[in-house]
Amino acid sequence: MNVLVIGNGGREHAVLQALKKSPRVEKLYAMKGNAGIAEIAECIDLDYCNVTAVGDYLDAHPEIDYTVVTPDDPLALGLVDELEKRGHRCFGPNKRAALIESSKAFSKSLMKKYGIPTAKSETFSSYEEALAYIGKEGAPIVLKADGLALGKGVLLCKTMEEAREGLKEIMLDKKFGQAGNKVVIEEYMTGKQFDPGEEVSVLTFTDGKTIVPMVTSCDHKRAFDGDKGLNTGGMGTFTPCPFYGKEEEEEVREKILLPTVEAMRKEERPFKGVLYFGLMRTPTGMKVVEYNARFGDPETQVVLPMLKTDLLDIFEAVTDERLSDVKIEWEEGACVCVVLASGGYPVKYEKGKEIAIGDLDEDVVLCHAGTKWKDGKLVTDGGRVLGVCAKGKTVEEARQKAYKNAEKITFEGKHMRTDIGIKYRG
Ligand code: AMP
Ligand code: GLY
Repeated sequence: MNVLVIGNGGREHAVLQALKKSPRVEKLYAMKGNAGIAEIAECIDLDYCNVTAVGDYLDAHPEIDYTVVTPDDPLALGLVDELEKRGHRCFGPNKRAALIESSKAFSKSLMKKYGIPTAKSETFSSYEEALAYIGKEGAPIVLKADGLALGKGVLLCKTMEEAREGLKEIMLDKKFGQAGNKVVIEEYMTGKQFDPGEEVSVLTFTDGKTIVPMVTSCDHKRAFDGDKGLNTGGMGTFTPCPFYGKEEEEEVREKILLPTVEAMRKEERPFKGVLYFGLMRTPTGMKVVEYNARFGDPETQVVLPMLKTDLLDIFEAVTDERLSDVKIEWEEGACVCVVLASGGYPVKYEKGKEIAIGDLDEDVVLCHAGTKWKDGKLVTDGGRVLGVCAKGKTVEEARQKAYKNAEKITFEGKHMRTDIGIKYRG
């Protein structure tokens, strides 16, 4: 089969590397791809948010048998609906199902209606009513712009002053654009002491009926060591999550995974694809922080290397709604991904810096994010540049290997956190 993956980040490189292992894959394509992806896939330079253009492209290229849609925006824009309407087979939720990520107001109301554990919240379209609610609830409190905001539309407000200022930014100044037409106001989940809670990402495969969790992972969202600095797309990840044992697995399956799949079916929005549960451990049990309608980035870079089963077999079983027939197996052990970013990311950074990659250990995997070829040289082309992924028997072993190899990669302004994989170690 010839398979196209939509997207151009480290996550897509990880998906393509996993697909490459499938004996059934003949040729891989990527839209748009990057320098690393170009080594294993033919890159198609087309704006994948233009759903009609992608549909036209696939109509004109019948040699592509199957398309995997990974990023959030084309999913929210209905790319899967467009491709299915034209008779193309693909992987990913349709627009109605992707709403679970693209509208926080929707996902919060879904959880409330079906009793799925999450922070208490109210949604407002009126600034005055929202302001009055904040006054009543007090600080700390969490404000979330309703729509997609590149993961940046969440404000954790420690004081009332921060909360009032934040509300103004979202609803009046429209700092996150139309995403701020509605605001979701949430209780601070770990209580009044403003401790950051322990978080875990549980990615799952689901065909709308069966749901199968992947190995767990932990993200590091802040730019600097010790979870300091601004939120980023993710500076590194590791698997498995140390505080997620059999008991948590059972609790999450019964109270969160199964009820969510069923709720989406009852709402006539059956979800087919990767459903990502961002969870927090709180004094009153595991709760949902957010849903994503797709693979996480950079979670995928540590999760998929542990997959023993053919990824294409899983994707097709989801498309054909027969996921219960597939036995999904994982390797034992750990994996760590350290992200190398451009200096200044996530605010302001330069591109086009030449990248030198030394002699890496054979089993270390690089996931390219913002890279491209320019005049025969590999150069930086984005905020997050590369993910250095290494496996080990333990997180500590994988961590040491990932850092040893991350040191061998250089470019001007290179920035990485030095504490990926240390989180929650106590
Ligand atoms: P989100 O984009 O919804 O994942 O939120 C970004 C981050 O903010 C999460 O990963 C959490 O660390 C934090 N967060 C979001 N909602 C809450 C909440 N209700 N209580 C405490 N922390 C939260
Ligand atoms: N790593 C978080 C996300 O993909 O949204």
